[in-house]
Amino acid sequence: MTTKKIHKAKILNLQKCSKDMYLLELEADNSFKSKAGQFISVYCERTLRRPFSIFSQKENIVSVLFREIGKGTKYLTSLKPNDTVDFSGAFGNGFRIKNKKALLIGAGVGVAPVFYLKNELEKQGTESLLISGFRSVSDIPSCVKSDFIVTDDGSNGIKSNVIDFALSKAEEFKPEIIYACGPKIVLQKSSELANKFNIECQVAMEKVMACSIGVCRGCVIDVLKDGKVQNATVCKDGPVFDGNEVVWQ
Ligand SMILES: Cc1cc2nc3c(=O)[nH]c(=O)nc-3n(C[C@H](O)[C@H](O)[C@H](O)COP(=O)(O)OP(=O)(O)OC[C@H]3O[C@@H](n4cnc5c(N)ncnc54)[C@H](O)[C@@H]3O)c2cc1C
Ligand code: FES
Repeated sequence: MTTKKIHKAKILNLQKCSKDMYLLELEADNSFKSKAGQFISVYCERTLRRPFSIFSQKENIVSVLFREIGKGTKYLTSLKPNDTVDFSGAFGNGFRIKNKKALLIGAGVGVAPVFYLKNELEKQGTESLLISGFRSVSDIPSCVKSDFIVTDDGSNGIKSNVIDFALSKAEEFKPEIIYACGPKIVLQKSSELANKFNIECQVAMEKVMACSIGVCRGCVIDVLKDGKVQNATVCKDGPVFDGNEVVWQ
């Protein structure tokens, strides 16, 4: 069993950046290390710890972009700069970063880990295109810089769903790999899109989690390994899987 150190972190900033999304910036200790696609588990008073993808890490400053949906995330919105939170991590495998021309697809708050990845790809000089999709203008987080924004209702950026637009862009951009995060249907369609172009697709999955360390089996999904359907935990074996490995039921 892998346990992870609990980090006590000071809140540097908590900024509302869309109708219901917040950017939480934490000062971790210098021992904290992360990769794009990994997540941290944040203690939210009187609830289980809640998992959030890492949005960025610059030295010991770690941030997450979260959407307020229930009591844990509501508690986080009540915090103030200089308060402390505790979190553990970083958990999970993270994206396997390749030096290949990359199409990045982020839908809703799923844009968080692909935004981190985009910055990592830029640092290593790999060409990439980030397409992020939202329902409407009020859902677009101001802290995210995308190459293209699409909205379902056309209230900002291009009026399209994120997959239709990614397909049209992929025809001209000719990616060698796709990385995606968002609702399951977006991940499934991203994987199908990659298959059309005969390229690899890495998808960052989500499942409600309890332990985050592969013990409680609460986050199991079906994957295909050696031609057989097997179980994998999203928290430990994932959250990033090869799109063709996931059994999309
Ligand atoms: C690996 C991983 C990475 C994640 N990264 C992010 C992130 O970067 N930003 C972010 O905002 N959220 C992220 N999530 C989802 C986040 O963990 C949940 O939104 C959060 O736990 C909700 O806590 P809550 O106490 O506010 O809501 P709760 O009170 O627990 O739930 C409120 C409602 O939301 C539903 N719900 C809870 N969790 C999820 C979920 N994962 N997906 C869909 N519905 C859910 C519940 O069933 C319930 O109906 C991630 C989840 C995983 C597993
Ligand atoms: S959350 Fe416990 S095994 Fe994944």
